[in-house]
Amino acid sequence: MLCKSLIILAGASATLASTPKGFEPGTTSALIVSFGDVAAEDGNVLEKAATQTAPTIGTQSKVEGTSFAVLMIDLDIPTDSPPQTSTLLHWLQTGLTQSTAATPINTSEGSTDAFIFENSQGQAAFAEYIGPSPPARIPLSHRYTQILVDTSSATEANLDVLKNAAANRRGFDALSILTQAGLADKVLAGNFFNVTNPGPVASSTSKKNSTTGNGSGSAGSTGTGSVISPTQTPFVPGAAMTHKIIPFKLHKQPTRGDPDGSKDARSLDPLEDFM
Ligand SMILES: *[C@@H]1O[C@H](CO)[C@@H](O)[C@H](O)[C@H]1NC(C)=O
Ligand SMILES: *[C@@H]1O[C@H](CO)[C@@H](O)[C@H](O)[C@H]1NC(C)=O
Ligand SMILES: *[C@@H]1O[C@H](CO)[C@@H](O)[C@H](O)[C@H]1NC(C)=O
Ligand SMILES: *[C@@H]1O[C@H](CO)[C@@H](O)[C@H](O)[C@H]1NC(C)=O
Repeated sequence: MLCKSLIILAGASATLASTPKGFEPGTTSALIVSFGDVAAEDGNVLEKAATQTAPTIGTQSKVEGTSFAVLMIDLDIPTDSPPQTSTLLHWLQTGLTQSTAATPINTSEGSTDAFIFENSQGQAAFAEYIGPSPPARIPLSHRYTQILVDTSSATEANLDVLKNAAANRRGFDALSILTQAGLADKVLAGNFFNVTNPGPVASSTSKKNSTTGNGSGSAGSTGTGSVISPTQTPFVPGAAMTHKIIPFKLHKQPTRGDPDGSKDARSLDPLEDFM
C-alpha cells in the first residue's frame, strides 16, 4: 500500500509546485490544486472558464495538524500606475480538515493520490471564492497563488485577524496579515497558476461606464457583501480636493449625495475590474 503510493508520487513529483518567486510567506512544498479534471500547478496557464468554482486542494502526504486554512491571492492586480501592481484576496477559507485516506485526483495530466482538505464542518468562508477574471489591463497575465496554512494552534484572536483582514480583499498583504495572526511560519504548501486576458489592453480612458451602480452610496445592495459594496472610504488624492475651485470641476456635476465628487468611477470600480 505504502509502496504503491510512493511509486505514484514519484511519477507526480516531476512537477514542483510552489509559490511564485518573490512571494512571501513562500514555500516549495507542493499544494495540489485541481479544478475538476484541470490541474493547476507550477504557474501553468489555465482557461478562465475552468477556474470559476473553488478547486480541490490536497497534499501528496498527510501533513501534521488538525485544522487548516487556504488563501488564494492574485499578485498582479493592475493599478493606475503600471507596471505597478497590487494584490487581491480571492479566497480565504478556514476550518479545513485533511482526509485520513488518500484519494485519486484525476486530471488530464494523470492521476495523483492526494490527501484532500475539506471544509468538513461547513465553516463560513472569511472570503468566499471568487474566480479569476483578469481585465484587459496591464498586466494581462495574473498569478493566482494558493497557500495552505496550519491553523491548529491559532487562537480565536489569531483567526479574527484573518477574518478582519479578509473584509478588505484589495491590497491584501499576506505576509503582513499572517505575521499579525502569528501564522507567517505556518505555511505548509503552496502553488500558483496563471490566467491571462487575451487582450488587447483597453485604453485607460475607456474604462467601463461609472454609473453601473445606479446612484452612489448604495451600500445596501444585497448579497455579495464586501465583494462589491463600496464600504471603504475611497482614497481621495490631494489633487482632487484642490480641484474644487477649478472651473472644470464646476461643469462636472457631482454625484448626488457626494458633494466632493470623491466617489468617482475609480473609487467605485467593482472588483471585477481587477481580478
Ligand atoms: C480516478 O480514477 C480512478 C481510476 O483511475 C478511479 O478509481 C477514481 O474513482 C477516480 N476518481 C475520481 C474522483 O473520479
Ligand atoms: C502567464 O502566461 C502567459 C501566456 O499566456 C505568459 O506570457 C506569462 O509570462 C505568464 N505569466 C507568468 C507570471 O508566468
Ligand atoms: C458606456 O457608455 C457609452 C456611451 O456613453 C456607450 O456607448 C457604451 O455602450 C456603454 N457601455 C456599457 C458597457 O454600458
Ligand atoms: C439602472 O437604471 C436604469 C434606468 O435608469 C434601469 O433600466 C436599470 O435597470 C437600473 N439598474 C439597476 C441595477 O438598478
